[in-house]
Amino acid sequence: MAYPVQLFAHLCFTLIALLLFPVLSEGSDQFLMRCGATSSASDSDGRTWEGDANFGLALPGLSAKASYLDPSLPSRVPYMTARIFTSNSTYSLGVDPGRMFLRLYFYPTAYGEHSAVDALFSVTAGTYSLLNDFNPSQTAQAMGHSYLIREYSLNVTSSQLSVTFSPSPRHTGSYAYVNGIEIVHTPDIFTIPVPRFANGGNPDLFPISSSIGLETMYRLNVGGVTISGKHDSGFYRSWEEDSLYIYGSDGMNFFKDNNITISYPLSMPDYIAPIDIYETARSMGWNARNNMRYNLTWILPVDAGFYYLLRFHFCEIQYPMTKIGQRQFVIYINNQTAVEQMDVIDWSGGIGIPVYTNYVIVTVGHGQTDLWVALHPDLSVGTEYYDAILNGLEVFKLQDNSNNNLAGVNPTPKQNRDGSESHGQDKTNARIPAIIGGGAASGVLALFISSFCIYVMYRRKKTNYTHGKTNGNPPNGDGELLLATSHSKDLKLCHNFSFKQIQEATNNFDEAFLLGKGGFGNVYHGQIAGMKKVAIKRGNPLSQQGIQEFRNEIEMLTNLRHRHLVSLIGYCDEESEMILLYDYMANGTLQEHLYNTNKPPLPWEHRLVICIGAALGLHYLHTGAKRAIIHRDVKSTNILLDDKWVAKVSDFGLSKASADVDNTHVSTVVKGTFGYLDPEYFRRQRLTNKSDVYSFGVVLFEVLCARPVIDPDLPEEQVGLREWALSCQRKGVLTEIIDPYLMGKITPQCFRKFAETAEQCVAERSIDRPSMGDVLWSL
Ligand SMILES: *[C@@H]1O[C@H](CO)[C@@H](O)[C@H](O)[C@H]1NC(C)=O
Ligand SMILES: *[C@@H]1O[C@H](CO)[C@@H](O)[C@H](O)[C@H]1NC(C)=O
Ligand SMILES: *[C@@H]1O[C@H](CO)[C@@H](O)[C@H](O)[C@H]1NC(C)=O
Ligand SMILES: *[C@@H]1O[C@H](CO)[C@@H](O)[C@H](O)[C@H]1NC(C)=O
Ligand SMILES: *[C@@H]1O[C@H](CO)[C@@H](O)[C@H](O)[C@H]1NC(C)=O
Repeated sequence: MAYPVQLFAHLCFTLIALLLFPVLSEGSDQFLMRCGATSSASDSDGRTWEGDANFGLALPGLSAKASYLDPSLPSRVPYMTARIFTSNSTYSLGVDPGRMFLRLYFYPTAYGEHSAVDALFSVTAGTYSLLNDFNPSQTAQAMGHSYLIREYSLNVTSSQLSVTFSPSPRHTGSYAYVNGIEIVHTPDIFTIPVPRFANGGNPDLFPISSSIGLETMYRLNVGGVTISGKHDSGFYRSWEEDSLYIYGSDGMNFFKDNNITISYPLSMPDYIAPIDIYETARSMGWNARNNMRYNLTWILPVDAGFYYLLRFHFCEIQYPMTKIGQRQFVIYINNQTAVEQMDVIDWSGGIGIPVYTNYVIVTVGHGQTDLWVALHPDLSVGTEYYDAILNGLEVFKLQDNSNNNLAGVNPTPKQNRDGSESHGQDKTNARIPAIIGGGAASGVLALFISSFCIYVMYRRKKTNYTHGKTNGNPPNGDGELLLATSHSKDLKLCHNFSFKQIQEATNNFDEAFLLGKGGFGNVYHGQIAGMKKVAIKRGNPLSQQGIQEFRNEIEMLTNLRHRHLVSLIGYCDEESEMILLYDYMANGTLQEHLYNTNKPPLPWEHRLVICIGAALGLHYLHTGAKRAIIHRDVKSTNILLDDKWVAKVSDFGLSKASADVDNTHVSTVVKGTFGYLDPEYFRRQRLTNKSDVYSFGVVLFEVLCARPVIDPDLPEEQVGLREWALSCQRKGVLTEIIDPYLMGKITPQCFRKFAETAEQCVAERSIDRPSMGDVLWSL
């Protein structure tokens, strides 16, 4: 591997290419550049930084030296030299495409006649916008730091990464600078399908795309000391002690027992976090009565208006914590329940075994806001110790997909509660962040991603549930599946098509034949010789997680036939392709007739008939089939409409037959779609028919109000449709938020019944929800 570096200056729209030098020796996957310096030098970790001037003869910008050495700097390198830019300038770095950490180092001080306050600039890297009108001095002051390291994880697709510095046009005399640039290549540490769970699929309620850009906000070694990059597991991440962020001076930090050796489970790459993180932890303390009275809370200032990925690291490291049920607790994120009955031994499989879990939340508004993470003993279960534990916590900001932006605003320095300078927050702009999603009484909004893998594997052994399997074998190329059905006249073969036939039908997957894109892959329409038009769903061949869902869907659909369920016509699994063929639904999804569309609005009677049709389909799933089936992903894009506007429920990739030991629920991995997700299901991993009823209730509101179930652009109280609709319903003003097109077109009696039904469906507790049969009756 070679790393050529180039420095460009954009001057009056001209690119002046300078030189192209190889920087790193073969085989290295990191790159360190001290800016404004001519020679290489080592930092306190013993890492060697190359001077950027080694790469070019006449670099744009000025090389400058810091006027003052702050004693709290960890090292002179790279902070004491800088390159100063007074016009837009670009470093073009030669990289291997893939995921990498990009770290930018800033030491705010005066550089020659350039004062720290005039440093106001934006930074972009490739297509990502990293910083906007950034003032390192103000930011560092607000955080109480003498220097700043900004860390981004980017997936770079070309062999060159352009890092551009642009002084702000909004401030006269503004300039940009940087002290150091570091690149470290990494594997995919954010979207990895958790290995032990590869076959079961990744519960990607909030799918994190492989191209997403992230910014590290916090990386805390909970209960431990700061760990510098040198001691990280290869990526030079630094882990900060958590005590700065603990509310009050709560909790008790502790170290592992001497006779415990921490060992990573096979499913978990050791680079997820170094051993040191798991060796220390914070718990609430040994006084149970005291623990019941308080929450162990971390307060983390972040930028409002972004999604955040929170990664919790756990490991039990002291005797006698060896058994399930000894220490169970609740995790709250922003005062809302993310998970109940969190039991580290249950999730990890034993003492000394690390486990991690991810949640995604969204914060709304502008400016700065606080992220609250709190732990409390779960009093709803018989736990032996009233206590909680945490070993590590990472918080990443996710790029705003609409503009690839990661930049927030400069924090305002402010006195905090104990009098010291705090991580500034501009309360005037600050808005309380909302977790979006499920919907507890408080309007829970927590998003789940690849978190339950290990837990589920564990559970699975215990409960041993079965799900509608055809002998447990996936369909293979030379067999044809027999369709067993409840309507004997439908008994026929599920056809196995050749890949060639599919290619011909879709003009080799021509974009012009594309109907839509989903989690599983693309959907095309096509015409197979001698047959009616079909919809062709092609699984993304790279997605490991699809295989199980592919088989699941074939298994499910071959056993189901109903007027209100989409019919499977056949499949193709040649050449590691996963393709399913369905009846073509001429009128598309229900959602595309409701909002963000230029299609004419649906008359109320049509909507009602569609809801009834979908309810019939779900009722059949729950009661009509041999085994009751829970759909698990009921939403307006999974209700399709044929040429005669008959509603058909589709997408059984996530469905499960509910044959559990106690026959009332299936303990399983949390899956589904955010905004439609039963809060009880995601908090307890208890799946019942009522989870579908909940989702269906959300669809009813969607039909009535014709808006997305989650719309982060709306004012906070309106973000989640369910919460907003319920609050309007309680105030008796639901009629004011319905689709304007429907105003005056629904009879009051019909409206009342419909709204009442929707409200009952989305009840907080599943026992308060009607069955699908009752819903049908009401509609
Ligand atoms: C410099 O960069 C900024 C932000 O990227 C851009 O808005 C501006 O037009 C650029 N100026 C010039 C002279 O290229
Ligand atoms: C980077 O993105 C590309 C395309 O989006 C994807 O194929 C690749 O797997 C990603 N790499 C990583 C390491 O995430
Ligand atoms: C390990 O040490 C702890 C005390 O430090 C003790 O209570 C425990 O029994 C020991 N366990 C084993 C397996 O030796
Ligand atoms: C959580 O609740 C506390 C007190 O009940 C409140 O001060 C704080 O602002 C809340 N935090 C969030 C993020 O809502
Ligand atoms: C802990 O936090 C949750 C969520 O904010 C809150 O409902 C609960 O009352 C708190 N418990 C205590 C004991 O402070």
